[in-house]
Amino acid sequence: MLEGKNINKTYQSGDIETTVLKNINFKINTGEFVAIMGPSGSGKSTLMNIIGCLDTPTSGQYLIDNQDVSTFSDDELAELRTKKIGFVFQAFNLLPRATVLRNVTLPLIYADIEKEEREAKAKKALTDSAFPEKFWLHHSNQLSGGMMQRVAIARALVNNPALILADEPTGNLDTKTGQMVLETFQKLHTEQGRTIVLITHERYIAEFAQRIIHIRDGEIIKDEKMNVKNNNFIVLK
Ligand SMILES: Nc1ncnc2c1ncn2[C@@H]1O[C@H](COP(=O)(O)OP(=O)(O)OP(=O)(O)O)[C@@H](O)[C@H]1O
Ligand SMILES: [Mg+2]
Repeated sequence: MLEGKNINKTYQSGDIETTVLKNINFKINTGEFVAIMGPSGSGKSTLMNIIGCLDTPTSGQYLIDNQDVSTFSDDELAELRTKKIGFVFQAFNLLPRATVLRNVTLPLIYADIEKEEREAKAKKALTDSAFPEKFWLHHSNQLSGGMMQRVAIARALVNNPALILADEPTGNLDTKTGQMVLETFQKLHTEQGRTIVLITHERYIAEFAQRIIHIRDGEIIKDEKMNVKNNNFIVLK
């Protein structure tokens, strides 16, 4: 479970202090698929960075499985990120001239895992992210945007993380391709029970989740449970 208690985040530049997150409180249960939705500049990525332990609140607490993350050492945080969290970004951040398989295997090279096991894990992650086998040995810069994002999802999955954090993952994709990527997230949630936090500024994308946390000017203004009728998953399946 992920829990934020009175989280505030301010940035200081010279004499000017900007408050980006104000008194944020939330609980996200294990296995939930949640969208965080709000306009540009509302603080979504700032919040995602805190949820992903890439940044810390200025005040307040962030807890993962009831443990206050601020008590972790840098090494413990790095281990937590590697083992428990998979990140997917709007810009796919792949190595362009490496093969698909190599891109997905890369996070495991640091984890001291044998080559055969690395490849087996990468192949499973690619299969889980619905990436076609015939392109496994293509270079990532030879792929379409949707395919690149699937590689990025596979890379996020390769360490078998319980939590997937995706910041505008369909922002660079056309509607149809974006929909396929979102359906992949739904499958990872329904079939594998992963916790998914999806950041978006668009309602139709947020509706792929079970729940929408609305954020505006750094504050949570609404926490909306989707009813089954509204849920794209049911409609699209
Ligand atoms: N390092 C920083 N220093 C100062 N201000 C920052 C910093 N990072 C973000 N901000 C400010 O915090 C606010 C929220 O930024 P954030 O990136 O979280 O918004 P967002 O909701 O993700 O927006 P977008 O949809 O455009 O990605 C913005 O006004 C931004 O300018
Ligand atoms: Mg952002």
